[in-house]
Amino acid sequence: MELNIVGGDLAKAKTPCLILGVFDKRKLSKPAEAVDKTTDGAISALLKKGDLDGGKGWLLAYDLAGVTAERVLLVGLGKRKECDRPKLAKALGSALARLGETRVDRALLALPEGLDDYVSVRAAALKAAQAAYRYEATKKPKEDAAVLLAALDIWVEKPARAAAERAVAHASAIAQGVALARELGNLPGNLCTPTYLAERAIALAEEFPALTTEVLDEPAMEELGMGALLSVSRGSRQPAKLIVMSYKGGDDQTKPVVLVGKGLTFDAGGISIKPAADMDEMKYDMAGGASVFGAMLATVRMGLPINLIGVVPASENLPDGDANKPGDVVTSLSGQTIEVLNTDAEGRLILCDALTYVERFEPALVLDMATLTGACIVALGRHPSGLFTNDDKLAAEITDAGDAADDRVWRLPLWEDYQQQLDSNFADIANIGGRDAGAVTAACFLARFTKAYRWAHLDIAGTAWVTGKEKGATGRPVPLLSDFLIRRSGVETGR
Ligand code: BES
Ligand code: MN
Ligand code: ZN
Repeated sequence: MELNIVGGDLAKAKTPCLILGVFDKRKLSKPAEAVDKTTDGAISALLKKGDLDGGKGWLLAYDLAGVTAERVLLVGLGKRKECDRPKLAKALGSALARLGETRVDRALLALPEGLDDYVSVRAAALKAAQAAYRYEATKKPKEDAAVLLAALDIWVEKPARAAAERAVAHASAIAQGVALARELGNLPGNLCTPTYLAERAIALAEEFPALTTEVLDEPAMEELGMGALLSVSRGSRQPAKLIVMSYKGGDDQTKPVVLVGKGLTFDAGGISIKPAADMDEMKYDMAGGASVFGAMLATVRMGLPINLIGVVPASENLPDGDANKPGDVVTSLSGQTIEVLNTDAEGRLILCDALTYVERFEPALVLDMATLTGACIVALGRHPSGLFTNDDKLAAEITDAGDAADDRVWRLPLWEDYQQQLDSNFADIANIGGRDAGAVTAACFLARFTKAYRWAHLDIAGTAWVTGKEKGATGRPVPLLSDFLIRRSGVETGR
């Protein structure tokens, strides 16, 4: 989707649709007020009809006297004082859905005053760009399906122009990253295999010279001693891949940020097989890996001056005569032995070897993203991702990034106290920690393999996809990761 920053007289703007915000009690936003003035009160007259008196919703007007735009979409923003960025994004989302039904594919949006800085413009642009994504790989849209937005102009006042330009450039890059993560997530497990992910990573490197991709196959991983990862893929006919993508935007001295994402392309649970209900959703068990792809693409598109490495251990987890059995003991790349008490706790098995592998990059820090535990959904629901780290500064940075990107996290403890739940009589560590605090013990498991660097873990089980009638990948936490990397890179944003 095309995004532009524009200025000038809103009433005279040529556009199929001018989108203006109005607050509760018929109070106009500043841009709406300006249009109202030049049209001798056309907007106020419309509002007098009362359609938006509830403060929410939208009102579509055609051929408004004094306005060049073919239509004007007034969007209710609720109480002025309570209208923050998330509320604005939500209102915009519903307004854009309305636009799609009218078959309009271009619009001009004037953001209300106070919400026209870098972060808000980026949020609005990202929201619009995200609304323009539709999964079509294995299902063609019906003829009467909503039209997707092809271009959005965002109007801001002159002083805000430079920050807004940066905001839309970033939003466009992030949106492409989010769309890639969503697409990979939504693809079914029979198409999106570890080999397919590896091919996509190679294709990305071919497209972008700043990016290189290396793929380790099973013999290479065997050679290294990745016994934990390989024990998971042994039960599958699809060979595992360790995908390593490197982006060089900084100098040689700068240590890389390393992202590691769980790329379990289908999780049936293995011998500890999952119940049938909703098992289809386990195609999304590679969403952490997809977010690595998305963050890499967003970073390349933004051209951030950082060094970034993305690692995706990719595998299936299926029941088979050669699959892991409960009680099996495997040896990880770190040398630690692991008792596989539940073959469905496979994410940590593939991640632990990837997390040991990345030590070789001498990372500035490592973030891993994984749809790791149903217990995280029980603890936090589906609004925030779970954040685990013992580095308070890193926790604050990630939390701030999540807040700014409307892609929030909530921190859970990673205390030593929980570690004993992972004790095993037959190995250095067990792969499950019992019923209590399942999301925490999963993170504690990973913590045993991440002592060599600064590290944080995001459990995205509740946030990576939406379940139910609107089932689909969200692309989270690509917005968070992008904001985190933008801040780290120190590029000027004007915020
Ligand atoms: N991929 C699942 C976690 C998951 C389940 C994410 C449902 C989103 C929705 C993971 O591999 C898994 O199966 N975890 C087990 C761990 C348990 C065996 C300790 C779980 O959460 O039940
Ligand atoms: Mn599992
Ligand atoms: Zn899993």
